[in-house]
Amino acid sequence: MPMNRVYIKTYGCQMNERDSNAVAAMLRGKGYSVIDNEQDADVILLNTCSVRDQAEQKAIGKAGHLMKRKHKNPNFIVGVMGCMAQNRGEALLDSLPDLDLVIGTQKFHRVPDHLSNMIDTMQGQGPRPESIVDLAEELDSQNTIKAHLNDKPQITAFVSIMQGCNMKCAYCIVPKTRGVERARPMEAIVEEIEELATKGTREITLLGQIVNQYGIREFPFVDKKSPFVQLLEKVHAIEGIERIRFTSPHPIGFKDDLIKCYASMPKLCEYLHFPMQSGSDRILKAMRRPYSIEKFRSIIDKIRMVRPDMYISTDIIVGFPGETDEDFELTRKHFEEIGFDMAYLFKYSVRPDTTAEPLGDPVTKAQKEHRNQVLLEILAKNSLKRNESLVDKIENVLFEGPAKKGEDMFVGRTRGNRVVIVKANQRLVGQLVPVRFSRVTANTLYGDLVLEGVESEMEAITL
Ligand code: 5AD
Ligand code: SF4
Repeated sequence: MPMNRVYIKTYGCQMNERDSNAVAAMLRGKGYSVIDNEQDADVILLNTCSVRDQAEQKAIGKAGHLMKRKHKNPNFIVGVMGCMAQNRGEALLDSLPDLDLVIGTQKFHRVPDHLSNMIDTMQGQGPRPESIVDLAEELDSQNTIKAHLNDKPQITAFVSIMQGCNMKCAYCIVPKTRGVERARPMEAIVEEIEELATKGTREITLLGQIVNQYGIREFPFVDKKSPFVQLLEKVHAIEGIERIRFTSPHPIGFKDDLIKCYASMPKLCEYLHFPMQSGSDRILKAMRRPYSIEKFRSIIDKIRMVRPDMYISTDIIVGFPGETDEDFELTRKHFEEIGFDMAYLFKYSVRPDTTAEPLGDPVTKAQKEHRNQVLLEILAKNSLKRNESLVDKIENVLFEGPAKKGEDMFVGRTRGNRVVIVKANQRLVGQLVPVRFSRVTANTLYGDLVLEGVESEMEAITL
């Protein structure tokens, strides 16, 4: 009986999405069919996140649910990969003993082998095979996955430039789940992006825990340019790539060489995700974030001097242990004054083996909820105001595919990373097309294609 339909469910960050894509590509390369429909799957892999307890509980709940399906059909395979597998390890089997695969963050490239071993053993019709647990460190693992090669074309692609993290933010589990910082060689990254470009990729997002620290130990500065800036220059020169983004940078090492890139590199989008975490110096210090809010703001000011139309997004944690009303007021003030266009707001969650773990979780749920709500309201107002300023304006939109709803509706993004929904045509997918915005919400821009002056091929399109 063939067992080749795999469904991958991804929790967490863009790094995880990229890892899931890479696993999917490898599985397809081995003859598996990676499907979008959970119900038809013979194998379900959960690629998990540990950054907050809630993210782990969601995946555990899902895995528990899948166990019921496994009890009805013992050949059905369930695996947990990624951060939670790394964080909880063998202990996952205490509560989920029938889990077939537990695969850590440095072992994604081993998934196809482990899966085929599991299937072979199952088909041997013997007793239920032992669960496969593979969590070992593999210091070279940043080089083991060439995510996209030989796989289906992608208009926008995430490219991992490094793995792991050497910072010691007091709240963060990532150094535990993702290991020490390791950079991929520049040539390998450039080669991967060149190949993507020839297959139709127009937009690249360079991914790393702290991208601007890329290669800081492995590669020298050249002309006072950091290895990350050198990499950006190389990526910028690749024909076919029209837009470049990166995530996430850290204020540490966000120096003038990087700020100057916004002047010299037209492909570098005017969108920056720049985690602030808190607006209180006291809390930043307690979080072991080595910058002051003044320093953080001065970087944003410098970037906006070069690119006044920059869109800036951030991460904030509310309710870190010891955060008082006064501390939060500083966060609120700076959050409002900076005027973020986008933000991910998190309520503090205690993580095991972090330096903040012994501090417990003294800020009450209600306080966290309130602080979160205050920031959400500011954000919604800011985001709407920014979008309203775009009404009647024209910007190039990179079309990514059909929208979830609506006949002939397609979705794309501006350089500022705003989501755009427009009536369009399949032939525009993968193209940069001017759109005039007519209606906006805080999250989405709606409008019409501007067809005058567009290449003749596009003019021929009848909508
Ligand atoms: N609790 C809440 N939010 C957290 N983050 C990281 N660790 C925690 C935690 N323990 C947030 C940070 C980080 C983002 C990816 O998740 O804001 O930038
Ligand atoms: Fe991504 Fe961090 Fe969550 Fe791991 S723990 S999936 S690195 S956000």
